[in-house]
Amino acid sequence: MNMQEKIIKELISKKNKVYLVNHSQWGKCIKKVYIDKIGFENEKKILLRLSGERAPKLYDYGYNTVYMEYVEGNLLLDEIIEKPTQYHTVKAFYEFLVWFLSKLELVPCDLNFRNFIIKDNICFGLDFEETKKGDILECLTKAIAYCYLYDLEYQKKREFVSSLLKCASQKADDIYEQATEKVLYLTQRRGLIFDKNQFESFLFGL
Ligand SMILES: Nc1ncnc2c1ncn2[C@@H]1O[C@H](COP(=O)(O)OP(=O)(O)O)[C@@H](O)[C@H]1O
Ligand SMILES: [Mg+2]
Repeated sequence: MNMQEKIIKELISKKNKVYLVNHSQWGKCIKKVYIDKIGFENEKKILLRLSGERAPKLYDYGYNTVYMEYVEGNLLLDEIIEKPTQYHTVKAFYEFLVWFLSKLELVPCDLNFRNFIIKDNICFGLDFEETKKGDILECLTKAIAYCYLYDLEYQKKREFVSSLLKCASQKADDIYEQATEKVLYLTQRRGLIFDKNQFESFLFGL
């Protein structure tokens, strides 16, 4: 069969080229062209292992390119920006992390909230170019750090973090050190200044 595709639009991405396309075989789907082979190989491997559970189905792949299911839902970040924080959304995100860890004994390294889609109250993961051995506290504290550094209304960020801690049955006191480490890392990587007192007040809801 002569495969054809038409680009509907290019999606906002950090590194790779990501397109929503209309494909003669799969209909509306995502075409992701990776900037490097390692990212491509890693993500392809994870997508194959997850076989469409809480992640896009892998349709086909070629040189540094993957065709996958278009997961129609809202990005986790948009859910947070556009709506008052919903406990079930945060819980769906937390459940994804727990599930991923138990299924693959790995954690996704990039917990940017644009890498998760909420669809029918279930959280799907998108970005698996980098994964590593880790535990749920690692994910939890990293997600808190990402949340803290978004340019979002303070109250929304607070609600997200307190919901996340509640899902994980964790207290701010117990994760303080690890979360601080993650914020420090992200601020340094982004060339920002880290205000420890400000983060402390945020975490403890002062
Ligand atoms: N399978 C998918 N279904 C729906 N949207 C997707 C899918 N894959 C990627 N996207 C969209 O494209 C964006 C970038 O994809 P991502 O895989 O994170 O690439 P990058 O790492 O280069 O940013 C995501 O934030 C999301 O909006
Ligand atoms: Mg991404």
